[in-house]
Amino acid sequence: MTTPTIELKPSSNPLSDAEREAILASPGFGRHFTDHMVTIKWTEGRGWHDAELVPYAPLSIDPANMTLHYAQTIFEGLKAYKQPDGTVATFRPEANAERFQASARRMAMPELPADLFIAACDALIAQDRAWVPDSGEASLYLRPFMFASEVGLGVRPANEFLFMVIASPAGAYFPGGVKPVSVWLSEEYVRAVKGGTGAAKTGGNYAASLVAQAQAASHGCDQVVWLDAVEHRWIEEMGGMNLYFVYGDRIVTPELTGSLLPGITRDSLLTIARDLGYTAEEGRISTEDWKRDNENGTLTEVFACGTAAVITPVGSVKSERANWTQGTGEPGEVTMKLRKALLDLQTGHTADTHGWMHPL
Ligand code: PLP
Ligand code: COI
Repeated sequence: MTTPTIELKPSSNPLSDAEREAILASPGFGRHFTDHMVTIKWTEGRGWHDAELVPYAPLSIDPANMTLHYAQTIFEGLKAYKQPDGTVATFRPEANAERFQASARRMAMPELPADLFIAACDALIAQDRAWVPDSGEASLYLRPFMFASEVGLGVRPANEFLFMVIASPAGAYFPGGVKPVSVWLSEEYVRAVKGGTGAAKTGGNYAASLVAQAQAASHGCDQVVWLDAVEHRWIEEMGGMNLYFVYGDRIVTPELTGSLLPGITRDSLLTIARDLGYTAEEGRISTEDWKRDNENGTLTEVFACGTAAVITPVGSVKSERANWTQGTGEPGEVTMKLRKALLDLQTGHTADTHGWMHPL
């Protein structure tokens, strides 16, 4: 099967420069979208075909579209950053392409070749380059996704899919900048079990998380921390971020048990932390460890990490039975050092020694 090339059908009606600049001045997260999108079809027996870069527009969906009923859908999230020389580069798109393939396998969907995934992101960024914000942490967030496009109510893998990429300028994910978040330990609801879909980036995981997120908010917390589904004891991850625990100059992130998302930021930080001279490990941390080690002062900082949220300190923790301030409650030194190292790399202010940046 040959890989399709992406055909350009430019927008006849892009936003004006002034309208775009007004959005870029305060983009928020996921609220505004660029002028174009990529669409690539997959049909049983034919494979990938009809790759197009077209004006951003609503889709027309049949009421019996299989995704609306059975949620055979996956997505990715990655960012493009303006570099000091004015060029644009994405961070580890090969890793996103590979995770997209892993999600597809778990959800009985066709695997998009990695080079086509990257070419689709590149084509959209190149076309809508004016939408890449200029400075600092701001970036163009890319959202590749795929869903069943077949119409019918039989429960089985669809025989038609649509892959798309849309892009959205992104400021800070948490309005208010680097401010520690408060977290709720979810003991009633679980996110994922071994053998389930927790390691896949599929919509149902997020749908299932919303009631717990609402519960966290009702307790005055910003985010949910998910625990393992069997003992309700071992820390897994947050709603859209992985977690790191800082013990002085040793940082530990929950190991990949099959029920949490293998975050690309999480993986990158294992390396970046070692480059900076820290010990970085994967391990098991229970809610009791967290509370005790915070009280005895050995657990100095906790932070969350992910593409959208970058690195965000955890300032306080609450559950049905306990309530504590994490460390001083303020952003910690190691957290902020790692945050700076990651952003400096992504924005081209330090050398890309691991070959992670993908220039357009
Ligand atoms: N965990 C979940 C559930 C997520 O949705 C995300 C975001 O993609 C992450 C962790 C962090 O992953 P990454 O660093 O690849 O963005
Ligand atoms: C990301 O960080 O890319 C995510 O997907 C997190 C969230 C917006 C779902």
